[in-house]
Amino acid sequence: MTRTPTSHFGVLLVGSGSATPSQVISNDQLGKRVDTSDEWIKSRTGIAQRRVISNHETLHGLSAKAAQKAMSMANWEPEDIDLLVLATSTPDDLFGSATQVQAELGAKNAVAFDLTAACSGFLFAMITVSQFLRTGSMKRALVIGADQLSRWVDWDDRRSCVLFGDGAGAIAMELSKEEDGLIGFKMRSDGARGSCLNLNNNEDFEELVDGTVFQKGGFSPIRMNGQEVYKFAVREVPAILESLLNTNNVKPKELDWLLLHQANQRILDAVAERFSIPSEKVLSNLARYGNTSAATIPLMLDEGVKDGRIKPGDLIASSGFGAGLSWGAALFRWHGHN
Ligand code: COA
Repeated sequence: MTRTPTSHFGVLLVGSGSATPSQVISNDQLGKRVDTSDEWIKSRTGIAQRRVISNHETLHGLSAKAAQKAMSMANWEPEDIDLLVLATSTPDDLFGSATQVQAELGAKNAVAFDLTAACSGFLFAMITVSQFLRTGSMKRALVIGADQLSRWVDWDDRRSCVLFGDGAGAIAMELSKEEDGLIGFKMRSDGARGSCLNLNNNEDFEELVDGTVFQKGGFSPIRMNGQEVYKFAVREVPAILESLLNTNNVKPKELDWLLLHQANQRILDAVAERFSIPSEKVLSNLARYGNTSAATIPLMLDEGVKDGRIKPGDLIASSGFGAGLSWGAALFRWHGHN
């Protein structure tokens, strides 16, 4: 899907928020569990620590906190919200956790549902939500990216466990009849290459009755071929970004920020180098959170907004990529609250 929408309604990004778990696990601490070292993890990934949801916290609770902050920044009341989309691959309830968040916020007029596209989830959700706003059928929406991959990481597999962490981030988006903050987007999927990163159901069948069987629910831990995923990212992310910039006649030097899914500092550096974007314009908080899947982009956006780096009007090129395989890119301006 590569068409840039042409409706006369625009969308604006008017609020951001984030929430992270209280437990912090350093690389040295992980070294007590698996054969690894701070030096190895930092030099290969840029990650120094990650946060992990404890028994006092929940994924939907963190999501609600992040959404609440985005809502406050936008100056909205809970009843103002028409749509709430939670991008997650790790809901508290497989039937969907968006409604849990809706209840916690008291957003009783909002329709709420989950969207699953792994690490591309937030970007896909933001684009999906923008379609509802562009048609004019909805006015105010919360887009949340949140994941608790710590549930499904094999904490004894050093090749993958060092990469991931938990977190939540959210943005508030609204319809505008005057301006359009979402300049363009592109989205891609390739299931044929999906076997390098999976979180599959167990193959656990039990007898039901009279020789019939049923599959017992439950998932196997994350399986990842790190090198294949790395190659996919450094090939496809620059390609989709280049195509997006060309379609919209934007030169890399016109960008204020490069906001990529935070998977590995080496991937961020490789993409930035490809476009000659200086490192000061490449947003990164990998060192503190690792890869929080659907949460990385809104978590990073919120950090940049809160510390004053991202200012109203700033032009941001963003790309999400991950399991599926799925990847996408969006070009937008941060609007902030008027
Ligand atoms: N600590 C110490 N050694 C480790 C290790 C760890 N945590 N993980 C792997 N190693 C070892 C391997 O066993 C291997 O040793 P060997 O040569 O004796 O067999 C060696 O380090 C090199 O492994 P390799 O897999 O080639 O490392 P790499 O340079 O490709 O880095 C990743 C591994 C996972 C950091 C890298 O491939 C990557 O970031 N891939 C992308 C993953 C990703 O982003 N996934 C999410 C996408 S949304």
